Parts: sequence; structure tokens; C-alpha cells
Amino acid sequence: MHRIIIDTDPGQDDAVAILTALASPEDFDVLGICTVAGNVPLELTTHNALQLVELAKSDVKVYAGCSRPMVKDLVTAEYVHGPTGLDGANLPLPTRTAERQHAVDFMIETLHAAEPHSVTLCTLGPLTNVGMALVRAPEVVESIAGIVSMGGGFFEGGNVTPAAEFNIYVDPHAADVVFRSGVPVTLLPLDVTHQALASAERVEPFGGLGTTAGTCVAGMLTYFDRYDMDKYGTTGAPLHDPTVIAFLMQPELFAGKRCHVEIVREGPAEGMTMVDWWGVTGNEPNALVIHEVDADAFFALLLNRISRL
Ligand code: BDR
Ligand code: CA
Repeated sequence: MHRIIIDTDPGQDDAVAILTALASPEDFDVLGICTVAGNVPLELTTHNALQLVELAKSDVKVYAGCSRPMVKDLVTAEYVHGPTGLDGANLPLPTRTAERQHAVDFMIETLHAAEPHSVTLCTLGPLTNVGMALVRAPEVVESIAGIVSMGGGFFEGGNVTPAAEFNIYVDPHAADVVFRSGVPVTLLPLDVTHQALASAERVEPFGGLGTTAGTCVAGMLTYFDRYDMDKYGTTGAPLHDPTVIAFLMQPELFAGKRCHVEIVREGPAEGMTMVDWWGVTGNEPNALVIHEVDADAFFALLLNRISRL
């Protein structure tokens, strides 16, 4: 059983990750959902998280976090996710509001109260909230079991610049704090998510569930597919963020290697995750960098869990 905090900027792929986690009580005790500005501004990512909690009929609390990156101006991605961030589905309106406590305060308070190495941070968006928590209260590293993070890309290059993946590009300074914190990071980069394509054959079974959640997931993924299918010329968009949740549920579906990862903060390669895959620097590994996934088994796992909602 993983005790997790989900830090997220929903986003259709974040949505599938959140719903999967909320549908898997045997795997996860979800301590809270923290929102951050990323795919769309904070007000919308928070509203979207509340809609997903409503859809899952969950009582997990939502905490709004940082509205902009540590240093840079915010860059958003409505061109991928649509103006709301969750276009493609008719989600229920939230009946609850976000908590009054700031997400960074919630993280710090929760980690201060936790046993050593007992809480896993699942990050599905820019790393601003986690970076801020680590700067404000560096001692919280003691309570963190690990940070499992969707971000970066190495052999596959970037998706917003030739060098950078969106989540790291939006807040490279926060990512730098995370990778230099000493906390064990598991990185799910584009190299792995580009193997997990939401093709029509993989999306249709969600619609076939005949449930509101299944219909919403199929609608969101069909909307989300359109941009990346054009961009990459593939049969479906990479389903990025649920790899974080699936990795914690079934790590045997994934393969990777422990490497040293450095974040490029400035210059033309700003936001790049420089992975020392071949160990040429002699630097100690600070991350498990995932490189392969059994994509069919991954989609089967998601379908199985979403079918419960
Ligand atoms: C990441 O960026 C966002 O658009 C997705 O939600 C995912 O977290 C992929 O680069
Ligand atoms: Ca995301």
C-alpha cells in the first residue's frame, strides 16, 4: 500500500491517472491532491481536480498550490488540452471546494507528521509545489519514500522544444531542486510515454464500459489524441501521466536504469533532463530512469481500474 500525495495540473492524462489511483484502494492511500499551474492556469487545474474527485465519488481533499513557476513566467498548453484543460468530457460540476490550506503547506505539514520514508509524491505536472516545499522545509526529505514523476525525455528529445519536455520546461528551477534534493526519484520520461499510445483500439473499451467514468475517459482521450496524432503521425497520443500510477501498482510492467540526471535551467536547452545513461560523468545516480513499458498490459490495467468507478 502506497501512501501518496498526487501533485497535478489536470489535463486529460492527469485525469486518467487521478481516476485510476482513486479507483485502487488496495494500492493507494491518497492523502491529498495538490494542484499546480501547468497545462492550464491554477484556477482551472484546481477546478478540474475537484471535478475528477466528484466523478470518482471520492472524499480526498484538493489543495491549490502555486500559480506560477519559481522563476519563469507561466507557459500553458491549451493547444493540446483545450481551453478548460479537460475538454472532451462532460464532467460533473464539483459540489465541494478546494481546502483553504495552500498545497505547499499541506505537503510540509503532512510530511512533518509522517513516519520516515513513508510518503510517495506522485508528480504529474511542473514541479513547482514540490520544489517550494523542499526549499522551505528541506527536512521533509526524511519522510519521503520517493518521488515518482512524469517528466523529461532523453533519447526521444523534447515535446515543447527540441530539448525539453513540458513539465520540466515550465519550471526547470523547481525540477533542479527536486533532482538535487537527495530524494530517490523515479522518472517516467517521454522515452517511455511515447510507447503508451492511446490508439482507438485502446480507447474504445473505456467507452464500452457503459459507465459515466468510462464515457468521460473515452471522450477525454479522443479529444487529447487529435493534437499529438497530427504532431507525431502516430495512431494515438502518448498517455503520459498514468504511467506514474501504473508504475507504483505494477512496476514489473516497466524497465529502466539508475542514472544521474541533471536539469538544464537556462540557454537553448532550458528544461532538458540531461541523463547520464552510460555513466560517463562518474556522478552518483539520483534517479531511476524508466525506458520501457509493456503498453498493452498498461492499458489493460487502466481499463480494469476505471471499470470500477
Ligand atoms: C506532460 O505535459 C502535460 O501536457 C501532460 O499532462 C503531461 O504531464 C507531458 O509532456
Ligand atoms: Ca500533467
